[in-house]
Amino acid sequence: MKSILFVCLGNICRSPLAEGILRHKAEQKGIKLKIESAGTESLHVGENPDRRSVKVAKEYGLDISKQVARQVRGEDFDKFDKILVADKDVYNELMAFIRNDKDKKKIDFIMNCATPDCNTGVPDPYYGGQDGFEKVYKMLDEACEKIIQELETGNNEIKK
Ligand code: 4NP
Repeated sequence: MKSILFVCLGNICRSPLAEGILRHKAEQKGIKLKIESAGTESLHVGENPDRRSVKVAKEYGLDISKQVARQVRGEDFDKFDKILVADKDVYNELMAFIRNDKDKKKIDFIMNCATPDCNTGVPDPYYGGQDGFEKVYKMLDEACEKIIQELETGNNEIKK
């Protein structure tokens, strides 16, 4: 079984959505994956996802309301094959955790799964309206769809 950790800042808006979307797609295809999410900051540890993420997920048929925020930790680099980050700030924060080249290679931008090497960030929707969450959902859905496609075709390093 392969394992993917999604990381954003607070683990209440972007990464819990990515976790829910990918888990749903994997279940639909019968693909066994360990999927979790975490935040670089401790601000929201123990909280359920932001109500606006819960709402947009629900509109697309997903229930992410019971997921619980946690902070990323060093041992995540031993427990996950891939650590997919929401944006450059998160990427830079994770650089503080890496111990070696193997750790570094595990980190990539979520949106690079949709468009390789684009290094596009998923915009932080926290201080905006519901429309920002809709945009984030669509971006994450596109990335997660590609992850599943590539796992199915065996065309992805996640599959290794
Ligand atoms: P997330 O969004 O990193 O996608 O979970 C945020 C959540 C909380 C805050 C910022 C971004 N905050 O400043 O509390």
